[in-house]
Amino acid sequence: MKITVVGAGAVGATCADNIARRELAEEVVLLDIKEGLSEGKALDMLQTAALLEFDTKITGSTNDYAKTAGSDVVVITSGIPRKPGMTREELIGINAGIVKGVITNSLQHSPNAVFIIVSNPMDTMTYLALKSSGLPKERIIGMGGILDSARFKCYLSLALNCSPNDIHGTVVGGHGDTTMIPLTRLATVNGVPVSQFLPADQLSKVAADTMVGGATLTKLIGTSAWYAPGAAVALLVESIVRNQRHVYPCSVYLEGEYGQSDICLGVPVEIGRTGWTRIVDYKLTAEEQELFRKSGDAVRNMNDVLATLSL
Ligand code: 2OP
Repeated sequence: MKITVVGAGAVGATCADNIARRELAEEVVLLDIKEGLSEGKALDMLQTAALLEFDTKITGSTNDYAKTAGSDVVVITSGIPRKPGMTREELIGINAGIVKGVITNSLQHSPNAVFIIVSNPMDTMTYLALKSSGLPKERIIGMGGILDSARFKCYLSLALNCSPNDIHGTVVGGHGDTTMIPLTRLATVNGVPVSQFLPADQLSKVAADTMVGGATLTKLIGTSAWYAPGAAVALLVESIVRNQRHVYPCSVYLEGEYGQSDICLGVPVEIGRTGWTRIVDYKLTAEEQELFRKSGDAVRNMNDVLATLSL
């Protein structure tokens, strides 16, 4: 397997580092436009190989897409991260053009790759990737829900004082501070609904904290987070390259599912070697469905902004 990560910023480099140390590919290529950045970070990672006992080949490339040729998976993290107080949506003007160019260049050298979109606003960037690439919808996957669900599990584990690995929790909808939907009703700890252990007001706070989980970190560290996003991408990559068929919440193109069409939104999907293969219907309640509709409206508004940009 060969995996390319475009964007050697904190998120992209952490993606590459996670993929390499978990030996999810024979080769990882890290590409960036900034002279020397990806070569330097790739070499630094390679120097951990003897320490962490992995044998993944790691290559850095300053904007030479020929080095990415034949990639099975391409992860797109390029673009600017948000600053404290910004929404992910405010990044669209700068990131849309960057992502479009990256898709074009990557596809030219890896026409059979599965694409994972991380750049924000992620749902709209995923939609852009699908429309501009012309690829089958199953090969375009937006990474957001896995990350949001990990934050949901983290906050639940803190509230329950238990291992986050005993918790199942899913966040669907848009990857936005006001558009994501933590499915509290379906969250369980060791198979038992969390509502049996936490009062409604505490569950509401967990959901609210989850929704602004990214913004909370950006306020603390001055830029977007990278550890959890990088680990979330690696989990998604693993299900692809090992054909594990895990069901993860990812932003994918909907054609009527969950009442939405011609949009990319976070829904539970089965992830395997060819991309996503099946959308799972969690049968939302009327209240959850209404939140999902509103989430779709907000993301569609961003897609409308995309249409006004000269890309
Ligand atoms: C986050 O929520 C970068 O959108 C990503 O941290």
